[in-house]
Parts: sequence; structure tokens; C-alpha cells
Amino acid sequence: MKRIQTAMLGTGFMGTVHTENVRRLGYVDVVAVAGSSPEKAAKFAKEHSIERSGSWQELCQDPTIDAVHICTPNVLHYPQAKFALEHGKHVLCEKPLTMNVAEAKTLVALAEKKGLANCIQHNLRNYPLVQNAKEMILAGEIGEVLAVQGTYSQDWLLYDTDYNWRIEKEHNGVLRAMGDIGSHWMDQIQFLTGLKITELCADLTTVHALRKKPKMSVQTFAGKKLKPSDYEEVPIDTDDFGMVMLKLGDRAKGCFTVSQISAGNKNSFRWEVYGTKGGLSWNQERPDELWIGHRNSPNQIIVKDGSLMKPAAAAYADLPGGHSEGYDDSHKQMFKHFYAHVLNPKAKPDYPTFADGLHGMILLAAVLKSHQKRAWVKP
Ligand SMILES: NC(=O)c1ccc[n+]([C@@H]2O[C@H](COP(=O)([O-])OP(=O)(O)OC[C@H]3O[C@@H](n4cnc5c(N)ncnc54)[C@H](O)[C@@H]3O)[C@@H](O)[C@H]2O)c1
Repeated sequence: MKRIQTAMLGTGFMGTVHTENVRRLGYVDVVAVAGSSPEKAAKFAKEHSIERSGSWQELCQDPTIDAVHICTPNVLHYPQAKFALEHGKHVLCEKPLTMNVAEAKTLVALAEKKGLANCIQHNLRNYPLVQNAKEMILAGEIGEVLAVQGTYSQDWLLYDTDYNWRIEKEHNGVLRAMGDIGSHWMDQIQFLTGLKITELCADLTTVHALRKKPKMSVQTFAGKKLKPSDYEEVPIDTDDFGMVMLKLGDRAKGCFTVSQISAGNKNSFRWEVYGTKGGLSWNQERPDELWIGHRNSPNQIIVKDGSLMKPAAAAYADLPGGHSEGYDDSHKQMFKHFYAHVLNPKAKPDYPTFADGLHGMILLAAVLKSHQKRAWVKP
């Protein structure tokens, strides 16, 4: 099998998760890395046995590199993805795809024109029981979808001393909790039900009008406590909490919340889907369990076991039942599908592409418009 040479842009949380998990495929070599400074990139390269580091522009222009992973703050996704595509690289980009709809449209058109593989990292689709739920809904096992409910709740930005680049719209985009984790929730509910969000009504809240910005750099999710001499107070206008009512397809309705200030919730990504025959519910923090709700018989909890699951979903379960598959595995599954497509470009992509990323940006724009107008909005 041809070996693929890949470059990592970003040396933080996702840079690490992508580097470790793409290597599990066995035929993709992470040969280069770029970071926010040459020193940080060189340090990451040393720690992860990556042969070289450089600026992202150098790596994108290197003819020996086949693909890049974009694991940087959101504001960099567009210039980096555009430059990489222009230089003939296959691109796997973290979510949200861009800062706005116009940028996302440009990327979709460019990737199409160049005929290059393009992926938006909605890895949360790839939990085996999420795939199983999708297959059950497709097979009509819960009937016609009537209602969806759920949340993506975290607590890592609860205190006004909690800080990260995501708080600043120049690096993150205007929508923070909604863009960061609401983007996953909306992608997932549409993926599961096969229904598009057709209308929505949103309300967003900034709990901390002022936050204490550290004078030194602070790692994502570090949860550090700062002393007064360590920070300066800055005004905040990105959302800490949000709620959205929505319509899906012709008939279904639902609602979800996003939060980065809900004490005790770490990555509480949960959804419920109710149909004319039954219901399904799943929680990322217990990924190997799927709840099945019945009207006239006892409810069930099925556990992840590829040998007992729908065949299409079993393809996402690489370990035997009883051995859990979690967050790292959801990334590995995406890389499996993305790189299989890189090797076989004539095949239809079986993973979320930049077109899905564009759809996500259109929904986020609708969320913002609805919040500002205090009205229902059609995306
Ligand atoms: N799919 C998921 O589950 C998931 C989870 C977390 C984050 N993300 C996304 O991944 C992206 C990165 O988030 P993170 O949590 O890893 O952030 P992070 O702060 O941990 O890391 C960001 C990294 O970007 C790099 N960087 C900054 N400026 C750069 C530049 N000019 N050139 C090259 N690199 C530069 C730095 O090396 C930094 O370490 C974001 O878009 C985020 O939305 C996705």
C-alpha cells in the first residue's frame, strides 16, 4: 500500500489527538508540524518523533506532503485550508470550518475544482452506537421522527478567571459555545435523523461580561486558578450559554442547549430522538450504551458489540464488545475513511466533507440572526 505523508498544523489539544490517532492507521506518516512559533513546533516535533517542523506556509508548499490536518484556532482554518488546497493537498479541517459562510463557500468550490479530498472533523458521528442509532432510524425502527431534544454542556469556562482563545471573536468567530459545540450537536442530529434543520429560533447569553485574561498563555481545558497579578480584565461578547428551538424536515420539532458554564458537565453531549414507534437516547460520556424507549414494552439499553450491531455500524467498532471505544477512536474512524478516499479518489466520500462544514456555517449564521432579531429564521 502507498504510504501517505501528512503534515499537522497546530500543536495543541487537537494537534496531539490527530497525531496520535492518524498514526494508528499504519500507512500515514506524520512527517512535519507547524505551530504558533518555530520553538513550539520544534518542541512538538521532538516530543512526537516527527522529523521536521516549519511554518504552515512552508509545509503546504512542500511537494512531498500529500495531506494536511488543520488543528488551529478557527480564524486560521480558512487561510490554511485555502492555501493547502491551492498547493494540491488533501485537507482534513477541524470544526467549525471557517469564520463565516462566504469563506466556507470558497473552500467548497476550491476543493471541488481541485478534486482533492476534504473533510470536516465531525468525529462525534463515529461512535459505534451513534452509527447504530442512525441505521436504526434509517430502517424505520422508531418510526417517523417527531421530536429531538438534547444538549452539549461543559463547565470549563464557568469562572471569570477561565480563559482561552475561543473567548475572543477575532480568533474564534462571533459564536463561541454555539460554534464550538453547538456545531457538533446540529451536525449530529441531522446525521442521525437524515432530516435538515429547516427553521430555528435561538437565544444566546454571555454570563461574564468581563473576564480575567491571563497575561501568560493557558492551555485549553487546563482549569488553572490565577492570582490578580496574573491577569487583566477584558470585556466579553461571545456566548457562554445558548438555547435553540428548531424544526427538522416537514414535521419534526426539537430543542437543544449549549453551555460552557454548567458545573459538573465535562463533555455532556446528549441527544434524544423520538418517533411514532419508539425513542433513542445517547450520551457521549457513556458512549458504549444506547437507550431504546418503547411505549408498550420494557425499555432497553444495548451495549456496543459489533457482532450484534447493524453491519454498517459494526464497521465503526474495531474492538470486541466489552472493550470500550471512545473519543480517540472516533477520530481514528474519521481518519480511516478520509485516507481510504485519498487512496481511492474515485470513490464517493463516506465522511463529512466541506459541504457539510458549509451547511454548519449556514446554520450558525441563522442562529446569530435569530438571536439578534429575536425571531424564527430559515437557514
Ligand atoms: N472535533 C473535536 O472534537 C474538537 C475538540 C476540540 C477542538 N476542536 C477544534 O480544533 C481546533 C483547535 O482546538 P484546540 O482545542 O486543539 O486548541 P488549542 O489551543 O489546544 O491548540 C491550538 C493550536 O493552534 C496552534 N496555532 C496557533 N497559531 C498558529 C499559527 N499561526 N500557525 C500554526 N499553528 C498555530 C498552536 O500550536 C496551538 O497549540 C479548533 O478549531 C477547535 O474548534 C475540535
